Amino acid sequence: MEEREHKPRTTESGLGIRPVYGPADLDGWDPAERLGEPGSYPYTRGIHPTMYTGRPWTMRQYAGFGTAAESNARYRQLIAHGGHGLSVAFDLPTQMGHDSDAPLAHGEVGKVGVAVDSVEDMRLLFDGIPLDRVSTSMTINAPAALLLLMYELVGEEQGVVVGQLTGTIQNDVLKEYIARGTYIFPPGPSLRLTSDIFRYCRTAIPRWNTISISGYHMAEAGASPAQEVAFTLSNGIAYVRAAVAAGMAVDDFAPRLSFFFVARTTLLEEVAKFRAARRIWARVMRDDFGARNPKSLMLRFHTQTAGVQLTAQQPEVNLARVTVQGLAAVLGGTQSLHTNSYDEAIALPGAKAARLALRTQQVLAHETDVTATVDPFAGSYVVESLTDGLEEAAVALMGRVEDLGGAVAAIERGFQKGEIERNAYRIAQETESGERVVVGVNRYRLAEEELAEEEPYVPLRVDPAIETLQRERLAALRAHRSARDVDSALTALRAAAATPTANVLPPMKEALRARATVGEVCGALREVWGSHVPTETF
Ligand code: 3HC
Repeated sequence: MEEREHKPRTTESGLGIRPVYGPADLDGWDPAERLGEPGSYPYTRGIHPTMYTGRPWTMRQYAGFGTAAESNARYRQLIAHGGHGLSVAFDLPTQMGHDSDAPLAHGEVGKVGVAVDSVEDMRLLFDGIPLDRVSTSMTINAPAALLLLMYELVGEEQGVVVGQLTGTIQNDVLKEYIARGTYIFPPGPSLRLTSDIFRYCRTAIPRWNTISISGYHMAEAGASPAQEVAFTLSNGIAYVRAAVAAGMAVDDFAPRLSFFFVARTTLLEEVAKFRAARRIWARVMRDDFGARNPKSLMLRFHTQTAGVQLTAQQPEVNLARVTVQGLAAVLGGTQSLHTNSYDEAIALPGAKAARLALRTQQVLAHETDVTATVDPFAGSYVVESLTDGLEEAAVALMGRVEDLGGAVAAIERGFQKGEIERNAYRIAQETESGERVVVGVNRYRLAEEELAEEEPYVPLRVDPAIETLQRERLAALRAHRSARDVDSALTALRAAAATPTANVLPPMKEALRARATVGEVCGALREVWGSHVPTETF
């Protein structure tokens, strides 16, 4: 066994992590100022006084594929297996504001999520699911307003008191410009639409979480924990500034902002990351925006375990990774959690793998003692040191974004994208050299004879099903379009979009009620606002 000389490791964010920490690391450190009590400013220890001793986190598994009926079956299954909240994955045509029969949609319909073209599909998606009894997250960004309004229309049809609807739309287009890419409109109209959603929900659906400001996708693209926190909170600051500039009082919308982060296998640094993020956001909202409602200061977040750390080699090893990642999120005080399925590096999760992913959360919640006490790492020499170090690194990076004129200006210069790509390259080099161990990939690989004994993995769906689905959707859309009149509603929507002081959601809702499609509504907005063309090139 080769003895490697033991050198202090660096964390994902480049902080030194030493073999031993002790009292000297917290010399002069004031717990009252740095931590506060659980449920009190600056919320380092968590946003509620009792955290999971009062209510466990929401087990919210991201799911969706194929038709609305297929996804509806998976949601019912997840609820039957104990899932608390729903989390809808939409296919790329829906996410990009195109109908299933658009030329751009070919080959993608129902592939990475469910195809939703109109309120008809939304009705099928939630058939038999009482919307006043579940909270539903929808991973939709540029067309977020459309999916929210169709959800509201279905709630009205179910007889639900719309003000009781709870859930979240991701609605975070700024991170789409940086990573992921499902944007439609230029930044200006996108921020206007986000502010319109904030204003609409405040009166129409006051319990709805209007945005999920996401670091996850930037992390998956290669961002370090410090970059993940810094760029996510900088985007949050841009949304708050836009809503205040649009005339809203910060406490009128800030309580319904939410966030979304990754959980990596580097558990100690991840716990520190979540604690640092809460403290930074609380201070920014109190001191920079003058928020006074305590709920405006609380960073409430969802976590998904790191998909990019899953391997296709020896996929069952991913069960161990997801367990550690899920534990990091829980020890870090997440409000909602998605645990990845062990087979996701290969294909859409199979039913058994999806159930196992949920069971992993249930083991953490019911068979461990980490839910018996709040913020177990409080006072830990290493975690408090890492929390302070990450806070310092993230705040410095947020300062660099501010020096460039804020998140939007920095995005237009490609700053965040460049920083993330440099870190992604470092990770790739470390993996290539073996300095970064990936079990089963660059160490502990299976020998040829062992590989021969491995059972081949059978993915959940095979592409031919997609072709069949495409044909079914085209026929459904032809029938759908033949029996309605949406012209006047779309004209009213264009007029609102061309009026900066108007809120586009009310006319948008009438167009969707008249059964306008996602592509038609987004097409009307594109006519007025144009489409985003990336400026930076790499
Ligand atoms: N004491 C007192 N009250 C408590 C409590 C406690 N210990 N714990 C919870 N509560 C209360 C909360 O205050 C809340 O009350 P409210 O309704 O009056 O606000 C209620 O109980 C529900 O608690 P939460 O709001 O914390 O839990 P939710 O699960 O409803 O919401 C969230 C969590 C983070 C705020 C919300 O925004 C959310 O669910 N986000 C999910 C986002 C998501 O699923 N995204 C998926 C992305 S997948 C993706 O991007 C694609 C792929 O590429 C990764």
